[in-house]
Amino acid sequence: MGTRLQAAPELDLVIFGGTGDLALRKLLPALLRLHQDELLPARLRVIGVAREDLDTDAYRALSAERMSQYLGAAFPAEAWASLAPKIDYVRVDALDASSYAHLAEVLNAEPARERVFYLSTAPRLFAAICDQLAARGLVSERSRVVLEKPLGHDLASSRAINDAVGGHFGEQQIYRIDHYLGKEPVQNLMALRFGNALFEPLWRRESVRDVQITVSEELGVESRGDFYDQVGAMRDMVQNHLLQLLCIVAMEPPASITPDAVRDEKLKILRALRPISGVDVNQKTVRGQYRAGAAGGQPVCGYLEEDHINPDSHTETFVALRAEIDTWRWAGVPFFLRTGKRMAQRVAEIVVNFRSVPHSIFGQSAESLNPNRMVIRMQPDEKVELHLLAKQPGDVMNLQPVHLNLDFAETFRSRRLDAYERLLMDVMRGNLTLFVRRDEQEAAWRWVEPIMDAWRTSGERPKPYTAGTWGPAASSALLGRDGLAWHEEI
Ligand code: BG6
Repeated sequence: MGTRLQAAPELDLVIFGGTGDLALRKLLPALLRLHQDELLPARLRVIGVAREDLDTDAYRALSAERMSQYLGAAFPAEAWASLAPKIDYVRVDALDASSYAHLAEVLNAEPARERVFYLSTAPRLFAAICDQLAARGLVSERSRVVLEKPLGHDLASSRAINDAVGGHFGEQQIYRIDHYLGKEPVQNLMALRFGNALFEPLWRRESVRDVQITVSEELGVESRGDFYDQVGAMRDMVQNHLLQLLCIVAMEPPASITPDAVRDEKLKILRALRPISGVDVNQKTVRGQYRAGAAGGQPVCGYLEEDHINPDSHTETFVALRAEIDTWRWAGVPFFLRTGKRMAQRVAEIVVNFRSVPHSIFGQSAESLNPNRMVIRMQPDEKVELHLLAKQPGDVMNLQPVHLNLDFAETFRSRRLDAYERLLMDVMRGNLTLFVRRDEQEAAWRWVEPIMDAWRTSGERPKPYTAGTWGPAASSALLGRDGLAWHEEI
């Protein structure tokens, strides 16, 4: 089932930021696995581009060294030996126009090839890189550009980046990455919703009591303190990953799976999000910052003691919020979003809580019967659980929660593509469905910005929480005000 677009057999993939963490930890390993599965275009050239003074051999050696560090015994030396000859390195200083000459030479040596420029650099360099590529005549109608997040700091800066890139690439040539959209279970959610008639009549305010979306991490800020302290959880996770998940859960069925049909429906959800600003911000949002605690059974320091963090930082490492979607389908249904670093577990899941039965025949109140719930677990394991009530065996009518469990790893034993493998394939094939359109991205900024403004002007510190917990107590209180609780608290 499904159609497979073919990538052009002759393709140049130019990775700016080629010596950076993302390239060496995610992109090259993804290419390596695709190569093992023989999914790469037949005549692919990968050109790593960065400021470091390396030659191609040194770049290949660096890549192999870093990948074998990350992949350990799983590093496929043989497959690498056959992929490495397809990888070149060109030194470019993004801000120095003259340094693009050599890159132009390498690309122009094979003018018939399609070109994908993957910008895995700081976003402040995007405009300069696109200007230089265009000035050297390297951008054609068949070229594509891939933009890594964070795309800006707020609506104005994201617009400025989009304007600069859009000056040289049409919207249909721009691939804005949100790696959550590349995750298999996220696409499965679309399959579940739109491939089955079963859920559609229930997927609405009449049957759904609330929806909870959690992406929690056990890790702290690791070595990214410099970056993270400028950004915080709202920009790092909510503006992009969590809102995209919300869109996939809440959007109307698109007319087809074509990129704009899907993206149009996601955009309608982002536009229908009820604004949260001013005094509402205190009622509907919680931000936290971790203090010393434990992770994986080991003591860990607090955020303010991490390397490269301002010891007086107000940056949030946790956000919980109550969103509402003003549409006929969802009016009045709270959508609770939550994300944080150094939390109790690494989990990404969507929980749809259905309403209680209207009347109980079992001698207890209808509200006290556990309502049905669907748990769509994306990480660490991939599964869908449907929580139902069943009769406990025996001579009395005692009800007990049971789970219908669909475990994807067990059901589908084939290898799952990781998010970057999937997204790289889509870029090479020219399929935009899983990439974020400019209007979506700007609508997301428009919604989060007043919340961040209110946090800043309040001057209040984020609420402390102990590393290794589910966040500040105020996060439970956020749901408590609706008489509800987070999934794991029940
Ligand atoms: C990234 C964030 O976009 O997503 C990181 O910048 C975060 O801070 C990561 O750790 C989480 O992704 P995943 O796929 O590990 O859940």
